[in-house]
Amino acid sequence: MPENSDSSPLLPDWASDDIDPTVPSIARIYDYALGGSHNFSVDREVAESSRKKWPHSLRAAWTNRAFLRRAVTFCAEQGVTQFLDIGSGIPTAGNVHEILADLDIDAHVVYTDIDPVAVAMSRRILTDVPWATAIRADARDLDALVSDPEVRAQLDFGKPVAVLLVALLHYIPDSADPRRMLADLRDRLAPGSMLVISHMCSDDWPPQELADTVEVSRRTPTPLILRSRAEIEPMFDGFELAEPGLVRVPLWRPEPEDDTMVSYFDTVGAVGVKKG
Ligand SMILES: C[S@@+](CC[C@H](N)C(=O)[O-])C[C@H]1O[C@@H](n2cnc3c(N)ncnc32)[C@H](O)[C@@H]1O
Repeated sequence: MPENSDSSPLLPDWASDDIDPTVPSIARIYDYALGGSHNFSVDREVAESSRKKWPHSLRAAWTNRAFLRRAVTFCAEQGVTQFLDIGSGIPTAGNVHEILADLDIDAHVVYTDIDPVAVAMSRRILTDVPWATAIRADARDLDALVSDPEVRAQLDFGKPVAVLLVALLHYIPDSADPRRMLADLRDRLAPGSMLVISHMCSDDWPPQELADTVEVSRRTPTPLILRSRAEIEPMFDGFELAEPGLVRVPLWRPEPEDDTMVSYFDTVGAVGVKKG
């Protein structure tokens, strides 16, 4: 898609006027990593600089998406039919509602993201999908997020909901108190609800590559905050981890077609079930 459109001398038709195309966005960088076309040169420059420091970065995005697919499938197999995808990103192949449609599940899905392009593109692909919606919301303001009328119209929090925080929490700094955010979320969920997290993990990175990758991410408004496994595991407090627990995402219930190379040393993930 061309970067300029008829409607604006500066922005393509998928970008609203409030977007500054000179400021990189993690949603658009990730879109580029996954081969999408909703990104600007500033996003591609950050992605390519990151790849120079961390050669597996683009491949890691695909590995994370494969984890998302398996985790959503697992939640659906456990009987959960309501899905809240927080930090859902710009839609790409294998979005949650598509995974569920392929499984022939009668489901409800809410996508939320802070990024305007992610929300606009999600709403666009959901025009004919009455059982799914997308809203713009900041994960750090859970009250506003769960009380949004569109969220309430799709999800009944009195029944189990699968909440997806996939590749999101490493953009939430400690100053926003992600553990308290998770405890707050847990308290709003019915027993049997499921929590899916993937999080970049600092444990196995060569220190220089880690430092360089974090440095590149400082060019965005959402720099990376890598955490150790010991910091990530308590995010599941109040949830019982499904087998195999918190592992590198390629190793979480891989299917035969999945890439199980674990040398990306970057992201761990798990699925927890809220205890009764
Ligand atoms: C790396 S992408 C992951 C997208 C998707 N969850 C996936 O795993 O394929 C991270 C997403 O989190 C969003 N994000 C970052 N901070 C956020 C916040 N405070 N509230 C909501 N979304 C946020 C970004 O806009 C981006 O779309």
